[in-house]
Amino acid sequence: MSSSQRLILVLGGAGVVGSGIVKSLLQKGYLVAVISRDESRLEKLKAFVSDTFRGNLHTLLGDVGSEEGAQEAAAALLSRVGKVTDVVSSLGFSWWQGGPPHTQSLQELQKVLDILLLSTFTAWKAFFPLVKDDPDSTYTFITGGAGERLLMPGTGFLTLGAAGALAFSQVVREEYPDVPCKLNEVKINMGVAKPEHLGPGYVNHLDVGDAVATVVEKRRVSHTALCVNCNTDLKTLILEGKL
Ligand SMILES: NC(=O)c1ccc[n+]([C@@H]2O[C@H](COP(=O)([O-])OP(=O)(O)OC[C@H]3O[C@@H](n4cnc5c(N)ncnc54)[C@H](OP(=O)(O)O)[C@@H]3O)[C@@H](O)[C@H]2O)c1
Repeated sequence: MSSSQRLILVLGGAGVVGSGIVKSLLQKGYLVAVISRDESRLEKLKAFVSDTFRGNLHTLLGDVGSEEGAQEAAAALLSRVGKVTDVVSSLGFSWWQGGPPHTQSLQELQKVLDILLLSTFTAWKAFFPLVKDDPDSTYTFITGGAGERLLMPGTGFLTLGAAGALAFSQVVREEYPDVPCKLNEVKINMGVAKPEHLGPGYVNHLDVGDAVATVVEKRRVSHTALCVNCNTDLKTLILEGKL
Protein backbone atom coordinates (compact mmCIF):
# COMPACT_ATOMS: atom_id res chain seq x y z
CA MET A 1 0.00 0.00 0.00
CA SER A 2 1.50 3.38 -0.96
CA SER A 3 1.86 6.15 1.61
CA SER A 4 -0.98 8.12 -0.02
CA GLN A 5 -3.36 5.24 0.79
CA ARG A 6 -2.32 4.91 4.43
CA LEU A 7 -4.31 6.74 7.08
CA ILE A 8 -2.28 7.51 10.21
CA LEU A 9 -4.19 8.55 13.30
CA VAL A 10 -2.06 10.80 15.51
CA LEU A 11 -3.68 10.86 18.95
CA GLY A 12 -2.62 14.12 20.58
CA GLY A 13 -1.73 15.41 17.12
CA ALA A 14 -2.65 18.98 18.03
CA GLY A 15 -0.08 19.02 20.84
CA VAL A 16 3.60 20.00 20.93
CA VAL A 17 4.97 16.53 20.18
CA GLY A 18 2.03 15.43 18.04
CA SER A 19 2.05 18.46 15.71
CA GLY A 20 5.67 17.75 14.71
CA ILE A 21 4.69 14.15 13.94
CA VAL A 22 1.65 15.27 11.92
CA LYS A 23 3.73 17.69 9.84
CA SER A 24 6.38 15.11 9.02
CA LEU A 25 3.86 12.37 8.13
CA LEU A 26 2.05 14.78 5.79
CA GLN A 27 5.35 15.66 4.11
CA LYS A 28 5.96 11.95 3.53
CA GLY A 29 2.64 11.79 1.66
CA TYR A 30 0.45 10.08 4.26
CA LEU A 31 -3.17 10.84 5.02
CA VAL A 32 -3.27 11.97 8.66
CA ALA A 33 -6.17 12.16 11.12
CA VAL A 34 -6.18 14.11 14.38
CA ILE A 35 -8.83 14.11 17.11
CA SER A 36 -8.92 16.98 19.59
CA ARG A 37 -11.36 18.18 22.24
CA ASP A 38 -10.74 21.76 21.15
CA GLU A 39 -11.73 23.14 17.74
CA SER A 40 -9.33 26.08 18.06
CA ARG A 41 -6.37 23.70 18.50
CA LEU A 42 -7.41 21.90 15.32
CA GLU A 43 -7.57 25.23 13.47
CA LYS A 44 -4.06 26.10 14.73
CA LEU A 45 -2.82 22.73 13.54
CA LYS A 46 -4.29 23.31 10.07
CA ALA A 47 -2.54 26.68 9.90
CA PHE A 48 0.74 25.07 11.03
CA VAL A 49 0.92 22.50 8.21
CA SER A 50 1.83 23.63 4.70
CA ASP A 51 -0.88 24.45 2.14
CA THR A 52 0.37 21.68 -0.13
CA PHE A 53 -0.57 18.93 2.32
CA ARG A 54 -3.52 20.47 4.17
CA GLY A 55 -5.99 18.49 2.07
CA ASN A 56 -4.52 15.25 3.48
CA LEU A 57 -5.12 16.31 7.09
CA HIS A 58 -8.47 15.19 8.52
CA THR A 59 -9.47 16.72 11.83
CA LEU A 60 -12.21 15.59 14.14
CA LEU A 61 -13.63 17.07 17.32
CA GLY A 62 -13.76 14.34 19.97
CA ASP A 63 -12.64 13.09 23.35
CA VAL A 64 -10.85 9.75 23.48
CA GLY A 65 -10.58 9.89 27.27
CA SER A 66 -13.59 7.61 27.85
CA GLU A 67 -14.46 4.25 26.30
CA GLU A 68 -17.60 5.70 24.70
CA GLY A 69 -15.81 8.81 23.43
CA ALA A 70 -13.00 6.77 21.90
CA GLN A 71 -15.45 4.34 20.24
CA GLU A 72 -17.49 7.26 18.88
CA ALA A 73 -14.35 8.86 17.45
CA ALA A 74 -13.31 5.54 15.86
CA ALA A 75 -16.73 5.18 14.20
CA ALA A 76 -16.75 8.80 13.01
CA LEU A 77 -13.27 8.41 11.55
CA LEU A 78 -14.23 5.25 9.70
CA SER A 79 -17.38 6.79 8.17
CA ARG A 80 -15.90 10.20 7.33
CA VAL A 81 -12.31 9.40 6.36
CA GLY A 82 -11.71 5.65 6.05
CA LYS A 83 -9.85 2.78 7.61
CA VAL A 84 -7.02 3.66 9.99
CA THR A 85 -3.83 1.80 9.02
CA ASP A 86 -1.48 3.18 11.71
CA VAL A 87 -1.76 4.85 15.10
CA VAL A 88 0.67 7.11 16.95
CA SER A 89 -0.39 7.74 20.55
CA SER A 90 0.99 11.03 21.89
CA LEU A 91 -1.68 11.84 24.46
CA GLY A 92 -1.02 13.72 27.65
CA PHE A 93 0.33 17.14 28.44
CA SER A 94 3.67 18.90 28.24
CA TRP A 95 4.18 19.81 31.86
CA TRP A 96 2.70 19.64 35.36
CA GLN A 97 4.30 21.17 38.43
CA GLY A 98 1.51 21.59 40.91
CA GLY A 99 3.61 20.94 44.02
CA PRO A 100 4.63 18.06 46.31
CA PRO A 101 2.04 15.32 47.00
CA HIS A 102 0.97 16.52 50.48
CA THR A 103 -0.27 19.79 48.94
CA GLN A 104 -2.38 18.00 46.32
CA SER A 105 -5.89 16.57 46.22
CA LEU A 106 -7.07 13.17 45.10
CA GLN A 107 -9.07 15.00 42.41
CA GLU A 108 -5.87 16.49 40.98
CA LEU A 109 -4.20 13.07 40.89
CA GLN A 110 -7.25 11.65 39.14
CA LYS A 111 -7.07 14.45 36.57
CA VAL A 112 -3.40 13.79 35.84
CA LEU A 113 -3.94 10.02 35.58
CA ASP A 114 -6.97 10.61 33.33
CA ILE A 115 -4.94 12.64 30.88
CA LEU A 116 -1.69 10.67 30.84
CA LEU A 117 -2.70 7.08 31.53
CA LEU A 118 -6.44 6.49 31.23
CA SER A 119 -6.86 8.22 27.84
CA THR A 120 -3.88 6.21 26.56
CA PHE A 121 -5.78 3.07 27.59
CA THR A 122 -9.24 4.05 26.30
CA ALA A 123 -7.82 5.19 22.96
CA TRP A 124 -5.74 2.02 22.65
CA LYS A 125 -8.82 -0.10 23.42
CA ALA A 126 -10.77 1.55 20.60
CA PHE A 127 -8.02 1.78 17.96
CA PHE A 128 -5.69 -1.20 18.51
CA PRO A 129 -8.31 -3.69 17.17
CA LEU A 130 -8.29 -1.76 13.87
CA VAL A 131 -4.59 -2.38 13.24
CA LYS A 132 -3.42 -5.32 15.35
CA ASP A 133 -3.79 -8.13 12.80
CA ASP A 134 -2.07 -6.39 9.89
CA PRO A 135 1.72 -6.88 9.56
CA ASP A 136 1.90 -3.62 7.56
CA SER A 137 0.23 -1.63 10.35
CA THR A 138 1.90 0.13 13.24
CA TYR A 139 0.90 1.29 16.74
CA THR A 140 3.48 3.60 18.30
CA PHE A 141 3.35 4.98 21.84
CA ILE A 142 5.19 8.22 22.62
CA THR A 143 6.47 8.32 26.20
CA GLY A 144 9.02 10.32 28.16
CA GLY A 145 11.63 10.11 30.88
CA ALA A 146 9.35 11.87 33.39
CA GLY A 147 7.92 8.43 34.19
CA GLU A 148 11.22 7.26 35.65
CA ARG A 149 12.19 10.05 37.98
CA LEU A 150 11.15 13.32 39.55
CA LEU A 151 12.20 15.93 36.98
CA MET A 152 12.24 18.70 39.58
CA PRO A 153 10.55 19.53 42.90
CA GLY A 154 6.77 19.68 42.63
CA THR A 155 6.44 17.47 39.54
CA GLY A 156 5.52 14.27 41.39
CA PHE A 157 2.09 13.77 39.83
CA LEU A 158 3.66 14.16 36.37
CA THR A 159 5.97 11.28 37.29
CA LEU A 160 3.02 9.18 38.46
CA GLY A 161 1.02 9.75 35.27
CA ALA A 162 3.98 9.34 32.92
CA ALA A 163 5.07 6.18 34.78
CA GLY A 164 1.59 4.77 34.17
CA ALA A 165 1.80 5.49 30.44
CA LEU A 166 5.29 3.99 30.29
CA ALA A 167 4.16 0.83 32.08
CA PHE A 168 1.05 0.57 29.89
CA SER A 169 3.15 0.57 26.74
CA GLN A 170 5.35 -2.19 28.21
CA VAL A 171 2.32 -4.21 29.32
CA VAL A 172 0.88 -4.10 25.79
CA ARG A 173 4.18 -5.29 24.27
CA GLU A 174 4.39 -8.17 26.74
CA GLU A 175 0.70 -9.17 26.70
CA TYR A 176 0.56 -9.30 22.88
CA PRO A 177 3.95 -10.73 21.84
CA ASP A 178 2.61 -12.26 18.64
CA VAL A 179 0.46 -9.52 17.10
CA PRO A 180 1.56 -8.96 13.48
CA CYS A 181 1.16 -5.17 13.81
CA LYS A 182 4.45 -3.34 14.52
CA LEU A 183 4.04 -2.32 18.13
CA ASN A 184 6.64 0.16 19.38
CA GLU A 185 7.38 2.91 21.85
CA VAL A 186 9.45 6.01 21.18
CA LYS A 187 10.64 7.18 24.60
CA ILE A 188 12.02 10.69 24.54
CA ASN A 189 14.28 11.25 27.54
CA MET A 190 14.52 14.97 26.78
CA GLY A 191 12.24 17.97 26.68
CA VAL A 192 10.44 18.53 23.39
CA ALA A 193 9.62 22.07 22.23
CA LYS A 194 8.73 24.14 19.21
CA PRO A 195 11.78 25.92 17.65
CA GLU A 196 10.92 29.24 19.30
CA HIS A 197 10.95 27.64 22.77
CA LEU A 198 14.07 25.47 22.51
CA GLY A 199 16.54 25.52 25.41
CA PRO A 200 19.25 23.28 26.91
CA GLY A 201 18.05 19.69 27.20
CA TYR A 202 15.28 20.20 24.65
CA VAL A 203 14.87 18.78 21.15
CA ASN A 204 12.92 20.30 18.29
CA HIS A 205 9.42 18.84 17.86
CA LEU A 206 10.02 18.79 14.07
CA ASP A 207 13.03 16.47 14.54
CA VAL A 208 10.99 14.26 16.86
CA GLY A 209 8.28 14.28 14.19
CA ASP A 210 10.76 13.16 11.52
CA ALA A 211 12.06 10.39 13.78
CA VAL A 212 8.61 9.01 14.61
CA ALA A 213 7.47 9.32 10.99
CA THR A 214 10.48 7.23 9.87
CA VAL A 215 9.71 4.54 12.47
CA VAL A 216 6.18 4.36 11.05
CA GLU A 217 7.36 4.46 7.45
CA LYS A 218 10.18 1.89 7.65
CA ARG A 219 8.49 -0.56 10.06
CA ARG A 220 11.90 -2.12 10.83
CA VAL A 221 11.24 -3.11 14.42
CA SER A 222 8.40 -4.36 16.56
CA HIS A 223 7.79 -4.75 20.30
CA THR A 224 10.69 -2.38 20.87
CA ALA A 225 11.22 0.65 23.11
CA LEU A 226 13.31 3.15 21.14
CA CYS A 227 14.93 5.45 23.71
CA VAL A 228 16.04 8.87 22.54
CA ASN A 229 18.68 10.30 24.89
CA CYS A 230 20.28 12.92 22.63
CA ASN A 231 20.11 14.55 19.22
CA THR A 232 22.35 11.82 17.75
CA ASP A 233 19.72 9.21 18.66
CA LEU A 234 17.10 11.31 16.90
CA LYS A 235 19.28 11.56 13.78
CA THR A 236 19.80 7.78 13.78
CA LEU A 237 16.06 7.21 14.05
CA ILE A 238 15.44 9.69 11.22
CA LEU A 239 17.88 7.79 8.98
CA GLU A 240 17.30 4.20 10.05
CA GLY A 241 13.90 3.98 11.70
CA LYS A 242 15.58 2.04 14.52
CA LEU A 243 18.39 2.48 17.08
N1 LIG B 1 6.68 17.97 25.80
C1 LIG B 1 7.74 17.30 26.22
O1 LIG B 1 8.75 17.89 26.62
C2 LIG B 1 7.75 15.79 26.17
C3 LIG B 1 8.96 15.11 26.32
C4 LIG B 1 8.97 13.73 26.28
C5 LIG B 1 7.77 13.04 26.13
N2 LIG B 1 6.60 13.72 26.01
C6 LIG B 1 5.36 12.96 25.89
O2 LIG B 1 4.63 13.34 24.75
C7 LIG B 1 3.23 13.25 25.03
C8 LIG B 1 2.54 14.51 24.51
O3 LIG B 1 3.11 15.64 25.15
P1 LIG B 1 2.94 17.10 24.55
O4 LIG B 1 4.07 17.90 25.08
O5 LIG B 1 2.74 17.04 23.09
O6 LIG B 1 1.60 17.56 25.27
P2 LIG B 1 0.48 18.59 24.72
O7 LIG B 1 1.11 19.64 23.90
O8 LIG B 1 -0.34 19.00 25.88
O9 LIG B 1 -0.40 17.67 23.74
C9 LIG B 1 -1.10 16.58 24.25
C10 LIG B 1 -2.28 16.30 23.37
O10 LIG B 1 -3.03 15.21 23.95
C11 LIG B 1 -4.37 15.43 23.63
N3 LIG B 1 -5.31 14.77 24.54
C12 LIG B 1 -5.16 14.57 25.87
N4 LIG B 1 -6.26 13.96 26.34
C13 LIG B 1 -7.11 13.80 25.29
C14 LIG B 1 -8.41 13.24 25.14
N5 LIG B 1 -9.07 12.74 26.19
N6 LIG B 1 -8.99 13.23 23.91
C15 LIG B 1 -8.34 13.77 22.84
N7 LIG B 1 -7.10 14.31 22.92
C16 LIG B 1 -6.51 14.32 24.13
C17 LIG B 1 -4.54 16.94 23.73
O11 LIG B 1 -5.61 17.25 22.86
P3 LIG B 1 -6.57 18.53 23.02
O12 LIG B 1 -6.26 19.25 21.77
O13 LIG B 1 -7.92 17.92 23.09
O14 LIG B 1 -6.17 19.25 24.28
C18 LIG B 1 -3.22 17.48 23.23
O15 LIG B 1 -3.29 17.87 21.87
C19 LIG B 1 3.06 13.06 26.54
O16 LIG B 1 2.67 11.76 26.81
C20 LIG B 1 4.45 13.29 27.09
O17 LIG B 1 4.75 12.41 28.16
C21 LIG B 1 6.56 15.08 26.01
